[in-house]
Amino acid sequence: MDASEAVAELEGTTGRVQVDEKRMINCRADLNQLVPFKYDWAWQKYLDGCSNHWMPQEVNMNADIALWKSPEGLTEDERRIIKRSLGFFSTADSLVANNLVLAVYRLITNPECRQYILRQSFEEAIHTHAYQYCIESLGMDEGEIFNMYREVPAVAKKAQWGIQYTRELSDPEFKTGTPQTDKELLENLIAFYCVLEGIFFYCGFTQILSMGRRNKMTGVAEQFQYILRDESMHVNFGVDVINQIKIENPHLWDAQMRDKATQMILEGTELEIQYARDTMPRGVLGMNANMMEEYLQFIANRRLAQLGLPEQFKGVSNPFPWMSEIMDLRKEKNFFETRVTEYQTGGALSW
Ligand SMILES: [Fe+2]
Ligand SMILES: [Fe+2]
Repeated sequence: MDASEAVAELEGTTGRVQVDEKRMINCRADLNQLVPFKYDWAWQKYLDGCSNHWMPQEVNMNADIALWKSPEGLTEDERRIIKRSLGFFSTADSLVANNLVLAVYRLITNPECRQYILRQSFEEAIHTHAYQYCIESLGMDEGEIFNMYREVPAVAKKAQWGIQYTRELSDPEFKTGTPQTDKELLENLIAFYCVLEGIFFYCGFTQILSMGRRNKMTGVAEQFQYILRDESMHVNFGVDVINQIKIENPHLWDAQMRDKATQMILEGTELEIQYARDTMPRGVLGMNANMMEEYLQFIANRRLAQLGLPEQFKGVSNPFPWMSEIMDLRKEKNFFETRVTEYQTGGALSW
């Protein structure tokens, strides 16, 4: 094979990539070339994600182990919250990672977005690692925790809801390029970015972070805090991807698709409210299921607005304003300053 044939074998065109040939989906330009950038926001999120790098073993778990093992350390309701959270998240993050790698990655036809998806996939691996690290440190029954997504209805329903949106797209034969299959990809992105990562994580995160604010299980809470920071960036990336696909393919965002998206967010909110009731049969940690319901409706309104859809819950406000503070990206930078420096030093080893 001569050089020109070899070049012709490459995916897409043989000429230099022009910015305006780049597309989020169904792109025909060469996908092996990162630059010229078209979607600067995707590249910037990749850089921001790398700046926030962290590893689970850096968090000291000694106080948590002592508290978990002490018979009077925690109430039954608090223990239930910790177990349910680790049970749901330990498999949910694997589900998200598998969806990214096996379904979404090849269907998003843009190199800078793929670069972020690769970063996000590694972050999901770190999250799964973090849950495993907590479960192992606390000496929990691994069989019980890892099977909750099959055995505990409030957890299982959330996992099953997500799985239905990845099944078909994970088939290697699945292709976008028709309005129907393009819409299926959009549904997958809404299900995973806006509902799984954007709603299903919020009850558990709020409960564990509230525990940390009360000086209980501070190691687990610190792990969750890092994860929440990553997750809020995943949600923002997903929303940007969905909105960019809408701009480039306005025919996909018709009344039927808008209704479907609204419906999906309402279903997700309802399942998360059920999860809140299951994990908080009584008031605990200064919160209860009714407050969580309002918080979830507040979050659902936010997700709808991010997609350009009308809010569905009138007059709700945020009962946990401290959660927004934790997610504030400017604070995130300050918070991670020492860590970022450590990683930058660690990256330049002298031999
Ligand atoms: Fe995650
Ligand atoms: Fe995520």
